[in-house]
Amino acid sequence: MREHAQRLSGVERTIFAEMSALAVRTGSVNLGQGFPDEDGPPEVIEAAVAALRGGRNQYPPGHGTPELLDAVIAHQERHYGLVLDRSQVVATTGATEAVAAALLGLVDPGDEVVVLEPYYDSYVAMIQFAGAVRRPVTLRAPDFRLDVDALKAAVTDRTRLILLNTPHNPTGTVLTRTELEAVAAVAIGHDLVVVTDEVYEHLTFEQEHVPLATLPGMFERTVTISSAGKTFSLTGWKIGWASGPAELVAAVEGAKNWLSYSSGAPLQPAVALALDAHDAFHEALALDLRERRDLLCAGLEELEMRVHRPAGTYFATTDVSAYGHRDGRAFCEALPAMAGVVAIPSQVFYDPAPTGRGDEGRHLVRWAFCKRRDVIEEGLRRLREADLRA
Ligand SMILES: Cc1ncc(COP(=O)(O)O)c(C=O)c1O
Repeated sequence: MREHAQRLSGVERTIFAEMSALAVRTGSVNLGQGFPDEDGPPEVIEAAVAALRGGRNQYPPGHGTPELLDAVIAHQERHYGLVLDRSQVVATTGATEAVAAALLGLVDPGDEVVVLEPYYDSYVAMIQFAGAVRRPVTLRAPDFRLDVDALKAAVTDRTRLILLNTPHNPTGTVLTRTELEAVAAVAIGHDLVVVTDEVYEHLTFEQEHVPLATLPGMFERTVTISSAGKTFSLTGWKIGWASGPAELVAAVEGAKNWLSYSSGAPLQPAVALALDAHDAFHEALALDLRERRDLLCAGLEELEMRVHRPAGTYFATTDVSAYGHRDGRAFCEALPAMAGVVAIPSQVFYDPAPTGRGDEGRHLVRWAFCKRRDVIEEGLRRLREADLRA
């Protein structure tokens, strides 16, 4: 059955759960999976408890509770000057479902989807579920910037959609306004829809996040996706949303209808409260994450790994080729025994060789810094004391 699921999705089962289980089994420090080990605002959690006790336990409206829709609308206007109405927002079971529903709702079998590689792993599975063909545009080490010529070259007359992700997991790249203008020019020039996954929108450090939908001519062809998970350190809640022009949102909602129909009744009002009242939470989180990024990156640099210091997200990337392992996967598989630490081999975010592109990520390893400071320090202490060579 597992092989069937793999064939259907085109990818192995998500590696993150496997690596987190490995961390528990081996008593390792988990710098692998991207979830914070501190929960989001207590008042927001209390609001969910109140909603549970207050009878918000039956199916909510399929497209979202009024509070959440209004809170997303207010958030988009307050932060980005985008003015929406309720027909232009749909609540989803996390950004993951929003991406799935956008692809299923907007792409026909045989269509091509241009997508940044390395990719968040659900993209590969969902493009395949939609019967579409992925056309990767690779962000290459060491800087992981967008190669605009490669983007232009990836578009054909079968391209239906560009699937973008900024701030980008796993590289931490935050696309600049200039890069986004290039994406916009391609999308407008070829009359493409863009689905943009912006779940790390508030977790940027030196560089400001620019939503693609704010560029001239882009709102009308863009579905913007976000979720409460990263912004409010509530990754287990799986409350997300997609916004954009009504006809594109209706297509997303049409597919969402047959995936989950509706999402987390008692959690939606709590997320609405978080969006309305907790800008200070994610502002403080971004500052704190920046310090933790610096702590982790400085420690990894001391270990003579080439480190890519990200401008956003939860993740730093290193090249571990200096340690003599066959590749990053072999390094990560050996890491719990060598050092009592778990990290993620970045090659799982690339198309496998022999297309050749797999080689791009072969020696890269992704480390999560959304962990408590003492956890990062302990991970670094273990790495310093270990012999990391093959
Ligand atoms: C780029 C990206 N998109 C989507 C998700 C998943 O978001 P959610 O938990 O809201 O489904 C993640 C989680 O790691 C992510 O990194």
